[in-house]
Amino acid sequence: MMMSKRQSRSVLWWFGIAFQLLVLLYYCSVMAAARSTPSSLTLKITKKHVVMDNGLIKVTLSNPTGAIAGIQYNGIDNVLESSFRETNRGYWDIVWSKPDMPSSLFNMLPATNFTVIAQDESQIEVSFTLTFNPDDDTSVPMNFDKRYVMLPGCSGFYSYAIYDHPQGWPDVNIDETRLAIKLSQNMFHYMAISDDIQRVMPSANDRSSGQTLEYKEAVLLTDPTNPKLKGQVDDKYQYSLESKDMDVHGWVCTKPHIGFWVITGSDEFRSGGPIKQDLTSHVGPTSLSTFFSGHYAGDDFGLRLRNGEAWKKVFGPVFLYLNRDSSDNSPRALWEDAKQQMLAETKRWPYNFPKSKDYVAGNLRGTITGQLIIRDRYMNKEVMPTKSAHIGLAPPGEAGSWQHDVKGYQFWTQTDSDGHFEINAIRPGNYSLYAWIPGILGDYKYNVNLNIKPGDNINVGDLVYNPPRNGPTLWEIGIPDRKAAEFFIPEPAPDLMNYAFNNQTQNFRQYGLWDRYTDLYPNKDLVYKVGKSDYTKDWFFAHVNRRVGKKTYVPTTWRISFPLENVNRTGTYTLRIALASSSYATIQVWINSENNIQPRFTINGLGRDNAIARHGIHGLYSEHSFDIPGSQLVKGENTIYLRQPRGGNPFFGVMYDYIRLEGPNN
Ligand SMILES: *[C@@H]1O[C@H](CO)[C@@H](O)[C@H](O)[C@H]1NC(C)=O
Ligand SMILES: *[C@@H]1O[C@H](CO)[C@@H](O)[C@H](O)[C@H]1NC(C)=O
Ligand SMILES: *[C@@H]1O[C@H](CO)[C@@H](O)[C@H](O)[C@H]1NC(C)=O
Ligand SMILES: *[C@@H]1O[C@H](CO)[C@@H](O)[C@H](O)[C@H]1NC(C)=O
Repeated sequence: MMMSKRQSRSVLWWFGIAFQLLVLLYYCSVMAAARSTPSSLTLKITKKHVVMDNGLIKVTLSNPTGAIAGIQYNGIDNVLESSFRETNRGYWDIVWSKPDMPSSLFNMLPATNFTVIAQDESQIEVSFTLTFNPDDDTSVPMNFDKRYVMLPGCSGFYSYAIYDHPQGWPDVNIDETRLAIKLSQNMFHYMAISDDIQRVMPSANDRSSGQTLEYKEAVLLTDPTNPKLKGQVDDKYQYSLESKDMDVHGWVCTKPHIGFWVITGSDEFRSGGPIKQDLTSHVGPTSLSTFFSGHYAGDDFGLRLRNGEAWKKVFGPVFLYLNRDSSDNSPRALWEDAKQQMLAETKRWPYNFPKSKDYVAGNLRGTITGQLIIRDRYMNKEVMPTKSAHIGLAPPGEAGSWQHDVKGYQFWTQTDSDGHFEINAIRPGNYSLYAWIPGILGDYKYNVNLNIKPGDNINVGDLVYNPPRNGPTLWEIGIPDRKAAEFFIPEPAPDLMNYAFNNQTQNFRQYGLWDRYTDLYPNKDLVYKVGKSDYTKDWFFAHVNRRVGKKTYVPTTWRISFPLENVNRTGTYTLRIALASSSYATIQVWINSENNIQPRFTINGLGRDNAIARHGIHGLYSEHSFDIPGSQLVKGENTIYLRQPRGGNPFFGVMYDYIRLEGPNN
């Protein structure tokens, strides 16, 4: 009885199982059909080439050098410039030197060894390595491992690289490193680097036939094939962006309608912090992923390894994405789709596919949370939340040292409107926690260094920033935000326009603005009257030299005049000058008398960020504070003189970020 009951139950049970299996089989076959095209990853290796194919994209790499020789997509045999040599179409490169070499060398990191790292239905990963040869004087004292990854169903491929300088190896400098892509000149004419900055671009030939302006990168297009571009300026530096805004940029081809994009899911491996600027895409058609360079920072910004220091860093992965649009619409559709893809890549970061153990997987990374508040009793009796403060981890150092750092990884975010922040996906290691707050002077650093271990989730609690402050604000010029963007930015000369910048907020990217100073102040220098002048109109964005004659540039002295109703003759006043940029410049400061031979203060040894010539609205930030004894000031009208004494060049000068006079502490 019991037995038969169980038997009858089990017939039903078996029937149920069989039904479920049928459903599962059906489901699997449907899924397999849906997946069959993209899941067929193939890898073909010949003597000269390594070819990765996922049915959507076919990438040909040179063997064993490891350059990107071809990208086949949407029926197009190669979206790269086929007339160039195979190793000159898509490549990693460095500019390097040994300390005793007279100048730096360009090296395209030709690998000598090829290895298959992974090859299954979920992933292809290949490695091309270049190893230091101590017997060869021209060999870079570093090991390089260039990786390429292809995933199924993915309309693009990834590349990353590991640079390794083991302990004890020779001294070396690397000034610059990047991944450069040279697209087909016949196909790609439209460039997009942001929502605002997109345009039909001139060709490399249009530049060759043009007129070189003050430096070789800036060209006036005099005879372009596209007549609409005639009379415009082209300069790759006009298309620089800040690191935090450099997450997607690229090119569009009209026929067939396809796009090529460089997408960066994280800028943890870039150097100099979130507002370090660098090149993106430019005439070529060229698309870059710049990992670090001295642009907007100066020649001494670079990797310097001395005394056998061990150093290793993973650059990337960067995603090279291709998309298409059958409706032959405007390039905007492809740009919008690339932006969506960028958001997806950002969300997927840290990636789970890179096979190198040097790329730290997500579960081995850490998180920190906290809140940053400000105490400045001259601004507010209470502590204040830091709205949209930039807060981040970078290698241990002084406050603000992150802007000079090239060696380490950096992890930045912005606080919410209450100052709360969460920084995640942090690689294990030692860091300082840094911040700066738009609208508040100076640099914050948490007084404890953080050692992040795998899986850490650290709440650092309430952090209080006490910005530089000795006394009440008597007057101020500008906004302390590390930029000169709030000051007067002139229109470019009508015959030196680039129509990519039709948004007023991008006007600083126009060519030749330095010379507009002479047009505005042909004989007498700028005078700013506190209480009457408006810094958005009356404070030129850069303190530059004046042009006299064709190519002669002479120093200029700016004046700030300000009334004081009464002066505390025994008190100490504080003058604070924050600079947003400096290029081969010095600032001499006199109080109430320019006739003294010796300036009262000198801001010396300034930087070489070259942001005036490169159309940056900032380069490197620096802050300078000076005590002024009350005995130097008078009741009534006072004057501060700011002289930049180094003439002879249109690009020597500074950009002020912010100037403030504080009264005595009381
Ligand atoms: C190339 O790779 C093979 C296998 O890993 C290794 O034995 C050989 O030493 C490598 N050669 C160089 C120059 O790195
Ligand atoms: C981090 O700092 C601690 C203490 O200064 C030190 O012992 C440790 O070796 C450092 N870790 C790394 C990865 O540098
Ligand atoms: C101009 O650019 C700013 C900053 O990128 C942006 O917020 C604004 O919407 C743009 N304006 C127009 C008219 O495109
Ligand atoms: C002048 O400054 C000194 C030093 O800061 C201070 O002790 C004194 O109270 C000030 N006098 C007035 C009238 O504010």
